[in-house]
Amino acid sequence: MCGIVGIVSESKDCLKKLQEGLCALEYRGYDSAGITFFVNNKFKTIKNVGSPKELFDGLDLKVKSNVGIAHTRWATHGKPDKVNAHPHLSEKGLFSVVHNGIIENYRELKDSLLSGVNFKSQTDSEVISNLLEYFYSGDVLSAIKNVTKVLDGCYALAIMCKDDKDKIYFARKNMSLLIGINNNERYLSSDLSAFSKECDTYLTLPNNSYGFIQKNKEEIFNFNNEKVCVKVENIENKAFLTKQGKFNYFMEKEIYEIKAVLQDTILCFKENKFNFKDKEFFQNIKYIKIIACGTSYHASLVGEKLFDSLGIMSNAEIASEFIYRKPYLPENTLAIFVSQSGETADTLAAIKVAKSLGAKTLGITNVKNSAVDRECDESIYLHAGVEKAVASTKAYNAQVLTFYLLKNILQKPQNKEAEFIDVLEQNIKKLNIKTMHKNILPVVALVKNSKNIFVVGRNFDYITSLEASLKIKEITYLNCEGFAAGELKHGTLALIETNSVVIAYITEKNLIDKTLNIVAQAKSRGAKIVIISQFNLKKLVAVSDYFIKLANFSEQFMPIVSIIPIQLLAYETSLALKHNPDKPRNLAKSVTVE
Ligand code: G6P
Repeated sequence: MCGIVGIVSESKDCLKKLQEGLCALEYRGYDSAGITFFVNNKFKTIKNVGSPKELFDGLDLKVKSNVGIAHTRWATHGKPDKVNAHPHLSEKGLFSVVHNGIIENYRELKDSLLSGVNFKSQTDSEVISNLLEYFYSGDVLSAIKNVTKVLDGCYALAIMCKDDKDKIYFARKNMSLLIGINNNERYLSSDLSAFSKECDTYLTLPNNSYGFIQKNKEEIFNFNNEKVCVKVENIENKAFLTKQGKFNYFMEKEIYEIKAVLQDTILCFKENKFNFKDKEFFQNIKYIKIIACGTSYHASLVGEKLFDSLGIMSNAEIASEFIYRKPYLPENTLAIFVSQSGETADTLAAIKVAKSLGAKTLGITNVKNSAVDRECDESIYLHAGVEKAVASTKAYNAQVLTFYLLKNILQKPQNKEAEFIDVLEQNIKKLNIKTMHKNILPVVALVKNSKNIFVVGRNFDYITSLEASLKIKEITYLNCEGFAAGELKHGTLALIETNSVVIAYITEKNLIDKTLNIVAQAKSRGAKIVIISQFNLKKLVAVSDYFIKLANFSEQFMPIVSIIPIQLLAYETSLALKHNPDKPRNLAKSVTVE
């Protein structure tokens, strides 16, 4: 969703750096972008609908400036247009503000403290610059302090004040904000990817804090106005700076990285298990609740089945459902929160609820120091590297594998670990993404021209079907539903007609005939059939219009990789339909508002 980058630098090339930073944040999703920078001691603010790249296309990057803030907007309050794009200037032009998050009481503030202000935009964010102006009497920090007292909601803010030409101020509450540190240069950003490659260290601003950055220092205060020291950390993994390389899109690159990601995940597990602070963390766990959104939720469903198979009662739930009911978590519950970004608002809200019910909390996330990582008692990192394409791919495979590793730890008596890891490694070795890619190409035309696509499977294949249908919807915009194969006959079969496409997953030997029955029923009503299976059996090939052979992965581990053909099929179909698979319409990579 929205992205923030701010720079205070000794060198006067801040426009170029803001451009690089903002473009690096594109992957979070955007519909407009904007920038304010100091030039000749004055604010210059430019906004544009469309990508950050388009914003900077019209700018002379050689203009000398050493302080600036920039923003990619994902519209929540007010349509995506130039006026609603950030930064928002205060009425008299004293403050310029970019904001991530939502101000819940913005209407009340407009009617009370700000009743005399002539607002230009429909956004909630515009109240912030005007509140700063309202409270300002020469001291920006005390104005910010007062603003934080009246704002309800969540925010990460980067603020410029006309009277202060060498600082960017900030405030954060329940939204991430980081400071990147370089010689005579400080960055402010919603994530690491916006920092220049010269930044070797950074710090994560604590929740409920405010302060400022200058080129060679930062000052941070908590909401009780006490100065706080925050640990500076090394940026260990500069993989976030990776480029697309030989690949046409990040999504393609990320699918091709799956094999390495799975290998890395196992390697890290072998080295340090999960390296928890509390060595007794898993003791006395009686019930496991897994909570997540989107693709991470689908991975959680795999976790649910794996833990259940151990005799530990387990259940996966969508975060936005969990938080709006009265959930019951029995004593000795372990609540697991799965999130690629670690910043998803609904998942974060669910952590609070689970904690208030006394559960132990474990985060599974791809981003160290993300909000999920910080909020949970313990964390497991995914080692998937930065995922830039909006549709999640390699993180899903890593999440599913992580559940297998976790299952092995919880198993009593424990599986022979070395043996288990060895079998996994041998299986992963067999993965050949290039061959899978070639195999799905003949199916693209069929899917591209279809109005109704169904993906079906039983047991673990049902979960893969849910994730498969999400991938197809996300980046092709075609109507596609995932179903439990046995459920199709209870209503949805009525939708099957000539030219419907039914994609059936058949990766469990004992369920082959059961799923084939359903496939036969769909076929006899005119559906085109695609079967995805590792079993090269005559009866499967005979019933299918297209048969996609999966690698001979052992059946028990198939859910880790069976999604790959559909990740590739969705990608190729998206291209065939002339969409941009990395940036699907209406969708954002990390959904930081409810
Ligand atoms: C967004 C993304 C999805 C992702 C979901 C959960 O909707 O577009 O790809 O699965 O958020 O994100 P998380 O970072 O919590 O896994």
